[in-house]
Amino acid sequence: MTQSLTITRPDDWHLHLRDGDMLRAVLPETARHFGRAIIMPNLVPPVVTGEQAGAYRDRILSALPGDMTFEPLMTLYLTEDTDPEDVAAAHASGLVKAVKLYPAGATTNSASGVRDFDKVRPVLEKMAEIGLPLCTHGEVTDPDIDIFDREAVFIDRVLDPIRQATPGLRVVMEHITTRNAADYVRSQDKDLGATITTHHLIINRNHILVGGIKPHYYCLPVAKREEHRIALRAAATSGDHRFFLGTDSAPHTDANKLQACGCAGCFTATNTMALLAHVFEEDGALDQLEGFASRNGPAFYRLPENPGQITLVKQDAPVAFPEQIDTPDGPVTVFDPGFPVHWTVA
Ligand code: DOR
Ligand code: ZN
Repeated sequence: MTQSLTITRPDDWHLHLRDGDMLRAVLPETARHFGRAIIMPNLVPPVVTGEQAGAYRDRILSALPGDMTFEPLMTLYLTEDTDPEDVAAAHASGLVKAVKLYPAGATTNSASGVRDFDKVRPVLEKMAEIGLPLCTHGEVTDPDIDIFDREAVFIDRVLDPIRQATPGLRVVMEHITTRNAADYVRSQDKDLGATITTHHLIINRNHILVGGIKPHYYCLPVAKREEHRIALRAAATSGDHRFFLGTDSAPHTDANKLQACGCAGCFTATNTMALLAHVFEEDGALDQLEGFASRNGPAFYRLPENPGQITLVKQDAPVAFPEQIDTPDGPVTVFDPGFPVHWTVA
């Protein structure tokens, strides 16, 4: 029996596209299904100024195949030297849709991130004034904090104090991985939203570590216990408008993943929508997929929904997704959910 589901064309509210050859290789994987994406600024060097964001946007658009449409929504990487007036100008011109906070050292290319949160206070106040959202990588980097507790501690020590001190600041807690984060979002007002990745709806920490280490399941924030995965599924499929899709699809070559100190990131751009259809169907919530992937994000970012639609089709035979994307830098492995998937985008 063929089943199908047509939804408004989705957006990805957290995406890594990189630059150069890698950008050209991975961009079509996202643009095939998604209308827009919030583009992460953690290049080397990071995208810090409005001018750099404009140049990066131009490089993304030149890498886009001529037969595809896609709008990159640019972000600025928050540093202790970020100029509030530059942020305001980049927002006023329509170029920049969010500012990204990486605590220094939290993840890939985050060395220029924030150490002293008092130093970014003027920027945060300007953002609250102009309504520009702050996207947070919500992990503390204190070496005394266990890596599995980094997100929960960030909420108490960093995020809640910032929000209390900056009324009106609109915040997206990105790639949440814990029940604590989902509960915090629910307990707050309309100025707080959260993105959830596809992979964090599918894997828990056992998938990374049991039966041999699985580098392709290693990302940051790292997947937590099963009870947290269940809480994320409940949040994503609930219909609560504050939760929306941000894949955090993060390409690294196999050479960089499969080594003694492997890079963090799951590459899910290729099969995300199919996997989400599987997950939402499994939870009896296919009717909530459109909200999660296509409607709640634009509502939070105060943007119109995409004009087009995509159709997901469920077929009898399992779908054979590519195992890898070839890039001039080497292959990038596509996230393997570990179970057969029957959904595909028509
Ligand atoms: O797993 C991750 N990979 N988490 C991040 O926060 C960064 C990302 C990357 O850039 O590779
Ligand atoms: Zn990310």
